Amino acid sequence: MHRVACPGSFDPVTNGHLDIIGRAAGLYDEVIVAVLTNVTKRSLFTVDERVEMLTEVTGRYGNVRIERFGGLLVGFCAAHGITSVIKGLRAVSDFEYEMQMAQMNYQMAKVETLFMTTNPQYSFLRSSLVKEIARYGGDVSGLVPDTVLSRLRQRLAQE
Ligand code: PNS
Repeated sequence: MHRVACPGSFDPVTNGHLDIIGRAAGLYDEVIVAVLTNVTKRSLFTVDERVEMLTEVTGRYGNVRIERFGGLLVGFCAAHGITSVIKGLRAVSDFEYEMQMAQMNYQMAKVETLFMTTNPQYSFLRSSLVKEIARYGGDVSGLVPDTVLSRLRQRLAQE
């Protein structure tokens, strides 16, 4: 069985993430979306909320599973019998950091990293920008799934 991990903070999941997850689901037998629990920057959504949103928006794929992880990604991969990771690459600016992590993960545990170029429609899209735009009243519909949009509005109204 060809299984791949798709790791990230997903605070919150965007349409860009969903595009990568969906395309990976077409290539692999199983995609395990690995949600980072120990996010250093203050997160807007709890891990449970991030997992709930991901579960909801990936429900249409029979071969996508959502898991949480803390510590090293390679530890998570070892525990789940995963030997490769898939990452979306938006722009050249992503490349340097992603390359370092990919090489480290290979060096540490022979975990391979496959880069998938993002749909150009989402090449500018990142969770932090979505939160900032939404916080100041900008329109993020079309950038995140509807369920995320309503949760964002709800959460920011409470701030
Ligand atoms: O969505 P993000 O925040 O860009 O995802 C980054 C993530 C979670 C993939 C990365 O920070 C990660 O793998 N963290 C786990 C800790 C780890 O393994 N660090 C060493 C990397 S070489």
